[in-house]
Amino acid sequence: MPRVISFINLKGGVAKTTTAVQLADTFAFVHRKKVLVIDLDPQTNATLALLGERRWEEADERGQTLAHLFLDLLNGTRLFDPGKAIVRGASNLNTVPPDLMEQLPADVQYGRVDVLPSSIRLIDVQDRMQDIANRTNYSLSPMAVVQKYIGPLFGQYDYVLVDCPPNLGFITQNGLEISDHYLIPTIPDRLSTYGIPQIASKIDELRRDRDLKIQCLGVVVTKFQSNSSQHKFGLQRLPDDLKAAFARTTEKTPPILQTVMPQTNASAEATVFEREVRNYPAKYGSGQVGGKAAYRYGLDLADEIQQLLGQE
Ligand SMILES: Nc1ncnc2c1ncn2[C@@H]1O[C@H](COP(=O)(O)OP(=O)(O)O)[C@@H](O)[C@H]1O
Ligand SMILES: [Mg+2]
Repeated sequence: MPRVISFINLKGGVAKTTTAVQLADTFAFVHRKKVLVIDLDPQTNATLALLGERRWEEADERGQTLAHLFLDLLNGTRLFDPGKAIVRGASNLNTVPPDLMEQLPADVQYGRVDVLPSSIRLIDVQDRMQDIANRTNYSLSPMAVVQKYIGPLFGQYDYVLVDCPPNLGFITQNGLEISDHYLIPTIPDRLSTYGIPQIASKIDELRRDRDLKIQCLGVVVTKFQSNSSQHKFGLQRLPDDLKAAFARTTEKTPPILQTVMPQTNASAEATVFEREVRNYPAKYGSGQVGGKAAYRYGLDLADEIQQLLGQE
């Protein structure tokens, strides 16, 4: 079974999506793994980053996005088909045509990213989630929808990465329900780290209430500016803040990943699908930052995460 990781922070703009997309690219196109990205955010940033606008619009028109799965349950329709909704061969680093992908023998080793697209329509769904319990006579929890309908397809993947909106509402809880771990991407400043205690307590509570396996894998520092004194102080303060945040939970304090993701132009543009990129270093930047090529931070982060997951 795959490793399932959710990307959580109550603050927007802290690089949850950028980190999820770069890790998906790294696992797929550097480590040749099969990756599924589930986009739970109505803002559809991960979907657009990995599919581009044209393929996303096709999915939305076909009625095959995550929003449609919830709408089916709310409206009593049966239009959503998980097998059709997952778009194969995503990312502008992919070089294998999706049709060809389907024909490759099962033992051919190649990496790929598949995406379960999101839709802006998830915003409407969000407020009606409680109705799912009523409509299914309480046989299906609103938090367990993704688990029930998408979970059975996880077997094909090495990693499932879940990009979450900046809240802990029902839709995000669908992500927590299926996850083995969560990562907290954060800029090392007050506003971005402010919600960490709340994340730690709420997820701890859900873990106990709903008997979930999810644990915090670690904190990833993002968009780091080495010339910012605020960031330097933030980084120094983070271990104690994190300790305090998890002291009130049943979990031990998670690690802060040693790989600190720097603020770079390449990362800022990495979620623009339409940009032509030849390969991984071109996409994530080959210019030097803090003594190494920018793209290497992504490689190091993926290695560290694999180590934390106890894999080679
Ligand atoms: N390492 C980075 N360097 C520069 N810009 C970045 C970096 N990581 C993310 N960004 C930019 O910051 C903004 C927020 O990132 P995003 O991944 O969308 O955050 P979130 O998903 O947490 O809302 C985006 O414009 C993105 O391009
Ligand atoms: Mg995002």
